[in-house]
Amino acid sequence: MSGPATIIPIAGGKGGIGKSIIAANLAVSLARLGKSVVAVDLDLGGSNLHSYLGLPNTLPSIGDYLKKQGSDFNEYLHPTWQHNLRFLPGDGRTPFLANINYGHKVKLIRNLKTVEADYVLVDLGAGSSFNTLDYFAMSPRGVLVTTTEQPALMGMMVFLKNLVFRVIEKNLKSNKDVCDFLHNIFSQPITAEKITLTELQQRIAEYHPESGVMVNQICHHFRPRLIMNWGSSPDDLANKLEPASRAINKMLSLDVEHFGFVFDDPTVHDAIEAGSPLIDYDPECLAVRCINVIAERIIKLWDSKIEESDKKLLLHTQNMYHELRTQALAGKSGAF
Ligand SMILES: Nc1ncnc2c1ncn2[C@@H]1O[C@H](COP(=O)(O)OP(=O)(O)O)[C@@H](O)[C@H]1O
Ligand SMILES: [Mg+2]
Repeated sequence: MSGPATIIPIAGGKGGIGKSIIAANLAVSLARLGKSVVAVDLDLGGSNLHSYLGLPNTLPSIGDYLKKQGSDFNEYLHPTWQHNLRFLPGDGRTPFLANINYGHKVKLIRNLKTVEADYVLVDLGAGSSFNTLDYFAMSPRGVLVTTTEQPALMGMMVFLKNLVFRVIEKNLKSNKDVCDFLHNIFSQPITAEKITLTELQQRIAEYHPESGVMVNQICHHFRPRLIMNWGSSPDDLANKLEPASRAINKMLSLDVEHFGFVFDDPTVHDAIEAGSPLIDYDPECLAVRCINVIAERIIKLWDSKIEESDKKLLLHTQNMYHELRTQALAGKSGAF
């Protein structure tokens, strides 16, 4: 462990698409690869990461920390059954915790940025509330989970649009005219005539060159990584990856990278029913294998730019699929 931890916020816009399942198992997988990991439940108001980690909902939590003045943040990072993995619980008990005030949010973010670990994985709630956007903006490289279905992809677009607007707005607060201009543009429905961020940036630059430079920097700062979850075969990816990144680039001037694919796997449901962490319930199951690949990729590639990530992910997923099918046909694996 050296330097500040790599913070990986995990969001997605839509609910019920596997953010928490992936966050929990990715945290365990990274810990098993020898990394020091803290899993954080920042889905305040809808916390359930503890259950995916097989932990009780009775551990002192973020809610307790914020209520108790002067307490030591590190005391809330609880050791778990998994060596190398600590857990910071959200809070399923304190009402209205999703709406913590600005001061509390700033304090929380500051604390998270000073955690000593290799990785801090932050599970976020659905939607694009200011708090969720600000937690995601803690890192230039967050993970967005989506399925290949249109509502999830749309939810992700809306989330990213809100993210960029939120960050721009926060940075332009002092210039009311530019802010009003932005509000006007972004209050258009997504189906209305689209103005891309590149166009927006040009118009802001004409109006106020300094702000134009700043918007440009923001768009280059964020480079979210996408995980496509719950697909049944690589065919699900073939027609989705490139169009998704192209649309995000065109409309939002953001470059995203495709980082992983997780198969639809009934074992996920079985593990939940058994009240057991998936990775413990069946370490060989399809979903866990995919999550392990993502964990290895994080360790190897997180700080690098990934060229042609759509082609690489598709190829890798096709190879994995064929390998698993061959094993299944030979009776060595029940995966398919
Ligand atoms: N790859 C998958 N295969 C099968 N079921 C999945 C998969 N990913 C998620 N699920 C199902 O989706 C449900 C919601 O997952 P969860 O991680 O709680 O979503 P979110 O955090 O996005 O709201 C889980 O209970 C699980 O049954
Ligand atoms: Mg969740």
